[in-house]
Amino acid sequence: MVYDTKTVAQAWSLLDEATVRYQGANVGTIAALATGTDAANYDQIFTRDFFVSGLAFLLAGKYEIVKNFLRVTSDLQQTENSKNCFQAPRGVMPASFKVIKKNNKESLVADFGEKAIGRVTPVDSSLWWLLLMRMYIKASGDKAIAAEDKTCSSIKRILDHYLIGHFELIPTLLVPDGAFMIDRRMGMYGHPLDIEVLFDAALRSSREILGIDASEDDKKYIERIDDRIGHLTDHIRADYWIDPIRLNSIYRYETEQFGDKIANKYNIYVSSIPSWVYQWVPENSGYFLGNIGPGRMDFRFLTVGNLLAVLTSLAEKSQQEKILRLLEVNWEVLVGSMPIKLCYPALEGKAWHLLTGADGKNTSWSYHNGGNWPTLLWLLIAAAMKMNNKAMAIKAIETAAKRLSADDWPEYYDGQFGNLIGKEARKKQVWTAAGFIVAHSILKNPDKIKLLTFDD
Ligand code: GLC
Repeated sequence: MVYDTKTVAQAWSLLDEATVRYQGANVGTIAALATGTDAANYDQIFTRDFFVSGLAFLLAGKYEIVKNFLRVTSDLQQTENSKNCFQAPRGVMPASFKVIKKNNKESLVADFGEKAIGRVTPVDSSLWWLLLMRMYIKASGDKAIAAEDKTCSSIKRILDHYLIGHFELIPTLLVPDGAFMIDRRMGMYGHPLDIEVLFDAALRSSREILGIDASEDDKKYIERIDDRIGHLTDHIRADYWIDPIRLNSIYRYETEQFGDKIANKYNIYVSSIPSWVYQWVPENSGYFLGNIGPGRMDFRFLTVGNLLAVLTSLAEKSQQEKILRLLEVNWEVLVGSMPIKLCYPALEGKAWHLLTGADGKNTSWSYHNGGNWPTLLWLLIAAAMKMNNKAMAIKAIETAAKRLSADDWPEYYDGQFGNLIGKEARKKQVWTAAGFIVAHSILKNPDKIKLLTFDD
């Protein structure tokens, strides 16, 4: 491989320097070290960012910090029904938190979106927390934590909230804009793939954890999970899927149909299919749509949802292969100079103006809107290795290694081919370094992939 161990060591020292202590123990890592004058909230421990650091620690056998993080966030979780609409609902985990020191006393202050830019709700935090808990138990063998009251109560609070009925008759979650890694307005409201795949994986994680020495009450929750998960998996596998055959049948859809056995359930009009899609899905390839709703198929490719679906086997075997093939064929536009775009293609012109609210940070081919995020290297390499495509994994890590250390570990890259350091990218971004460590560790020990995967 073209990178040497110095790059890995450098990534580790970044993680170590970013580690935060609370009451004498390591509890997490801040988002970025080089925050400059405008730190915003990059000096906080983000739940979604720590998931990647946590994974790096687990793969290195450093279990304690992950356990402490899981416990501290459990304590911060909303435990009561909200007193008013300005409080996050019971069960939700914070987007981020910070250790405050005053008069020699330490305390934790969390943000559930009430202070965040754009006042965005973290729908994903509780779900990443569940995945990390499962991985922690698998890696460390600490099954005792699964039986602890604290753990079971946290899981059940999440399930109570995420499994309640809402205004729709579908198994996916209804999600507002800015609710996950893309935490700004980007037209993701509705049923974004990234959250739905994460939701599916989180349900499976809860099932596994509650299944360890299950009490009668745990079994009731497992039943509720089982009741939802089959429908959720089927719905995503069938309705979100696009390959040349499905595209052709959508292209020939009849509209304005009524009844429960019709093909065009969401009343999709053919003229809403963007022209780039026709060249985007060649023979033997396919992917899951970014979003589905009444009169709406969002054809944007969301990387986290698609790759996570490969890893968790939410995608069927043949779908997993087709997603990998899509990556291979569209490598230049999805990866180019830096793995990998968060979302493709970028919103441009009028669509950008309307859907992002003319967001100056999310201009076309920048940041969330078509920018490349090196933290996602872990996911790309894990998916490639799961599919026994070592050549793809090596190509990805070598591409990343050419730039990351020299560029001082940027948060994201810009440009259609990801060759520019992001306009407003933070340097020394911790999940960039953590993503690299995880990727390197999986490549070195492919067996470790089992920590991340679920049975087919
Ligand atoms: C930005 C990203 C978000 C991330 C945070 C901290 O807000 O959009 O996904 O969690 O920075 O790195």
